[in-house]
Amino acid sequence: MGREFIRLFDHWAKDYDQTVQGYDPEYKAVFLDYDMILRAIVDQVQGNVLEFGVGTGNLTAKIYAANHRIFGVEPSKEMRKQAKLKVPQVTIYDGDFLKYPKFDCQIDTIVSSYAFHHLTDTEKSQAILAYSRILPLGGRIIFADTAFATKKAREEAIRKAEKMQYFNLAEDLKTEYYPLLHELEQAFTQAGFKIEFKRLNDFVWLMAAEKVREVEVID
Ligand SMILES: C[S@@+](CC[C@H](N)C(=O)[O-])C[C@H]1O[C@@H](n2cnc3c(N)ncnc32)[C@H](O)[C@@H]1O
Repeated sequence: MGREFIRLFDHWAKDYDQTVQGYDPEYKAVFLDYDMILRAIVDQVQGNVLEFGVGTGNLTAKIYAANHRIFGVEPSKEMRKQAKLKVPQVTIYDGDFLKYPKFDCQIDTIVSSYAFHHLTDTEKSQAILAYSRILPLGGRIIFADTAFATKKAREEAIRKAEKMQYFNLAEDLKTEYYPLLHELEQAFTQAGFKIEFKRLNDFVWLMAAEKVREVEVID
């Protein structure tokens, strides 16, 4: 589930860190201020951390350096290899946003960067609800990812990418599941979270959610 993009990431793993540094003109605006974006997540982290879609481990390394216990989950084998080279001290599990191991300690914060859009809207809601069961009251979900304020803004971004002949970016924007802010707000609120959004570049928003109530889940 939500794993249809993994082959692409296996191929991308070795060059991924060059892309985030802005070497690929198509994705330069998406990764603009990448380091600041990861730091914005680290600033809001508390306690033990669970990270999804760790990629080459850039966010993982920053959270580890900030002295948090962190567990990583990443479905791409090649990405896991790269992350292991960067942060050998951290265990990176094979898994995804919906399937991951049980941890023997309390998780206080769940983080992810540039990855949540790989889930469909239904899968996003399922995932957030499951995280609500893992986190204590006051627990946090801190994500940074591409999202759009309105449908018009999403369509405009696709048109702009096509006009620039950024056909890979345009295809991504059309085929992956980039959410609208109000859809995310609804999913988080239904799962017992209060969420705030902050725009970090033309594509990426910081999504900072805090669990404010328990939600009854019927299995
Ligand atoms: C664009 S990279 C982001 C990597 C890293 N978090 C960063 O900020 O640089 C997206 C990552 O999400 C992973 N991914 C794809 N589908 C996923 C899923 N369903 N669950 C968790 N991670 C997924 C990919 O394998 C890839 O490593």
